[in-house]
Amino acid sequence: MRRRRVIANWKMNGDKTIVDHLLGALKNNCKNITSELIVCPPAVYLAQAQGLLVGTTIGLGAQNVNANRSGAYTGEISVSMLQEFGCGHVLVGHSERRSLFAETDQDVAEKFKAVVNAGLRPVLCVGESEHERNIGSTDEVVLRQLDAVVNTAGIESFSQAIVAYEPVWAIGTGNTATPEQAQEVHRLLRKHIELLSMEIATQLPILYGGSVNPENAASLFAMSDIDGGLVGGASLDSQAFTAICNAAG
Ligand code: PGA
Repeated sequence: MRRRRVIANWKMNGDKTIVDHLLGALKNNCKNITSELIVCPPAVYLAQAQGLLVGTTIGLGAQNVNANRSGAYTGEISVSMLQEFGCGHVLVGHSERRSLFAETDQDVAEKFKAVVNAGLRPVLCVGESEHERNIGSTDEVVLRQLDAVVNTAGIESFSQAIVAYEPVWAIGTGNTATPEQAQEVHRLLRKHIELLSMEIATQLPILYGGSVNPENAASLFAMSDIDGGLVGGASLDSQAFTAICNAAG
């Protein structure tokens, strides 16, 4: 049985007061949740979040990382820096990083590898655009994104990873994939990993992301290959996020 997970991706939102409020509410409201909860605040708030989460089981994650260990990379943050602030998870390949910051499949693969090598869990995001879905390329796109990482980091590294299927057309749009649409892609991803390792495929958490909200969370999480959610907009509303965590159980 795979444990459910809910990951909050705050993106570039919030301030110190909001961090206090959201994490305070999460600590109060989600005491009885058995799913694993992880919060990814903007990097400058990691220290504050780390302090607030002491003594809880809520995990901390980063939204991005640089694949290099250290050096002349102005503005960038390394894996070891994230580790110092208690990050156990790192998002890699989020569609906003791919489209707005021109990250290639290979860049994503290098980041994934750096995160795994340091003993942290990468959350590899894959997903097709609306155009790609309309022309029937969904399978090809998500498998290309997955294979780039498998080929660089090796299938074994997926024993330490989480995959998130996030159709680009569903992110921040309110157009959630139906549970059936999402399940179909989740099944495809898991079957693809099965060809390489049945054991890794069976235990690999595959989360759905893209306009998850309190109304659709339970039906998405009920699908056999959907192991939880990666939540953007709704994670900034403590009531909505609590409801999503409750739906995960
Ligand atoms: P959304 O974002 O929930 O606002 O659609 C999800 C994500 O980008 O991870």
